[in-house]
Amino acid sequence: MKFFVDTADVKDIRELNDLGLVDGVTTNPSLILKSGGNILEVTKEICSIVKGPVSAEVTATEYAGMMKEAAVLAKIADNICIKLPLTLEGLKACKALTSDGHKTNVTLCFSANQALLAAKAGATYVSPFIGRLDDIGLNGMDLIGEIRTIFDNFAFETQILAASVRTVNHVKEAALIGADVITAPPATLKALVKHPLTDKGLEAFLADWAKTGQSIA
Ligand code: G3P
Repeated sequence: MKFFVDTADVKDIRELNDLGLVDGVTTNPSLILKSGGNILEVTKEICSIVKGPVSAEVTATEYAGMMKEAAVLAKIADNICIKLPLTLEGLKACKALTSDGHKTNVTLCFSANQALLAAKAGATYVSPFIGRLDDIGLNGMDLIGEIRTIFDNFAFETQILAASVRTVNHVKEAALIGADVITAPPATLKALVKHPLTDKGLEAFLADWAKTGQSIA
């Protein structure tokens, strides 16, 4: 399973990348706003830090506008992945961009049928939003399972990029179901390491080690 970090915060991306935890990055207009930077400059910096795909989202809602913006975004770096909304226009742009050899990420997916359309449009990734479905009383993880079954039934190559991941349990459950990628905020990725017994065990080992009076190096 690949780990993407869902942020446009360059400092956080650098830190996680140095830890070896980043296979790619996803951004969206809200995350660009939060970063306080210019989309082209911020995205360029992210692409220079991370080797894997960096999703940059178009903001046009019509096919022609999407294609125009995609051309600008694609020029930023070789590892740009064009993120498109799950609309008919977005799917049309996805098909065209994929045929031109671009990596694509179809976002704002909230149903299995939408994911099926993204796969048929040749998307490299489809992004089902887990947390936002949970927010309205549905089960986001059920959607990941449905998409996994459908993609396996027909051997679609589109990768399931589990997004709107809010908790460490989302990560575990998406991994158990077989999502190809999760994208999570930096704090959630870092929280994966936490376990009270690890802290307690380490404390005890260090206390005993101090009593030996030894040193290794
Ligand atoms: O990148 C899109 C997605 O991960 C958004 O997450 O928490 O705003 O629903 P959230």
